[in-house]
Amino acid sequence: MKKFLAALSGLVLATCVAQAAETLTMATEATFPPYEFLRGPEIVGIDVELSRAVAQKLGKEFRAENMDFDSVIPAVISGKADLAASGITVTEDRKKNVDFSEPYVKTGIVVIYKKSNPFTGKDQLKGKKIGVQGGTTSDAYVKEELKQEPERFKTPPEACAAMLAGRCAFVIADVDPARNCVKGEAALAISDFLSSEEYAIAIAKGQPELLAAVNETIAEAKADGRLARWIVDYTAESDRLKDGGSAVVEPTPESVGRSGLAAWLDEKWTALREDFYLCFLKKAADGSSRGMYLVNGLSITLQVALASIVFGLVLGFLVAVIRSSHDKYGYFTVLNALCKIYLTIIRGTPMVVQLLITYYIILRSVESKVLIAILAFGINSGAYQAEIMRAGIVSIDPGQMEAGRALGLSYWRTMIRIILPQAIRNVLPALGNEFIVLMKDTSIVGYIALIDLAKGGDIIRSQTYSVYLPYLTVAAVYLILVMTMTWLLGLLERYLRNTGANPVHNDS
Ligand code: ARG
Repeated sequence: MKKFLAALSGLVLATCVAQAAETLTMATEATFPPYEFLRGPEIVGIDVELSRAVAQKLGKEFRAENMDFDSVIPAVISGKADLAASGITVTEDRKKNVDFSEPYVKTGIVVIYKKSNPFTGKDQLKGKKIGVQGGTTSDAYVKEELKQEPERFKTPPEACAAMLAGRCAFVIADVDPARNCVKGEAALAISDFLSSEEYAIAIAKGQPELLAAVNETIAEAKADGRLARWIVDYTAESDRLKDGGSAVVEPTPESVGRSGLAAWLDEKWTALREDFYLCFLKKAADGSSRGMYLVNGLSITLQVALASIVFGLVLGFLVAVIRSSHDKYGYFTVLNALCKIYLTIIRGTPMVVQLLITYYIILRSVESKVLIAILAFGINSGAYQAEIMRAGIVSIDPGQMEAGRALGLSYWRTMIRIILPQAIRNVLPALGNEFIVLMKDTSIVGYIALIDLAKGGDIIRSQTYSVYLPYLTVAAVYLILVMTMTWLLGLLERYLRNTGANPVHNDS
């Protein structure tokens, strides 16, 4: 146990130190071509090149972090990232919280609409359901200019998919990603500019050297033509990525007119096969297919779930022993009080909030998000496992403890060798339940931009506009995981039941 804890704290420390100042971290939301988008697992785009050039100027390593757009500016304010480059529009409100570089692009927001519902002018927007990416200037436009609440989505493609599915009437977004959404989408079109904007890089306030380095980089990239080249190259690349990328087809008079069950089934079957190919198999420029999001995501889900189950078990065991020893024999008064505070706080606050607090506040200098997730989930699950194990411990006859002590075993040895094996056997079904809940709960790690199984499916959905296959596949994989776990727990239960009823007499 001591070794485990020592190793764990060593790991935490090592990761803290590893995140030394030699890395320049860029915060971004990579569903925004050509400024930032995913090429396989890699984040690429104009903003990435620009930020990498800043890192080069400073002689630092470079790393880009993908997160929700509304986390991008908080990331620089909290020090999680050094700069935010994410097609960020300079606004007066934002200037109060961060410093902006000189602008590097002039652009603006537009309306994306279905050709079947043509957009004729601003007045038409009032009172309609309007999709936007949350936290963006489009979001602000709907609130401030139209004086209404928008429908907020995590990414612009998601907002478009929602419009195609009939969930909103129009979408407002920045012109370049809007063009990309519309590309290859025969049913969609974009309007003229609603307003004009400028993009700049944001950094935390009070860093004149960094700001100067960013500004110099921008000026140089403009002067030597690199910026112009990136714009051309990445626009071309994101256009290519989008080619054949749509799976959402609006019904046309021809398709509706075709009748006959066989023709219908045939059409569906072909569509499904194409969709499957697009979602999982089609190779991107770098040779990887989208299916890899699920494969890699599964590995993250398993790592986080299994490690936090083990960590939770250790923690839960300690807390349970302390609490029940206190209740039965009056031992560990102070520790018991601490355990009670721990249980109250952990069980009284939502897991997502705990995860966010761990990521942004408690372990903000820890780089490994997997480690952060394991600690957050382990600490959370420990609280529930503790109470389950405590129930198991108090259910064991006090005579067992007396017998162990009479045999000359110490208190802890009796606990570990005699009480606990019986207690665990009794509460195994309840513990198993907790493991299952934990395994599925890890699907919220997307909040800290970790790409697990659920987030992987979500990324595929956002890139292909296809909803059925990515989500249903993810659901099926979770189901298989949980069924496998239930089966293994069943085996363990049977094994424990068969290996003697009482470890004392069994001399285990
Ligand atoms: N320019 C808009 C803004 O600053 C939208 C930016 C969204 N960027 C992104 N990478 N998703 O609010």
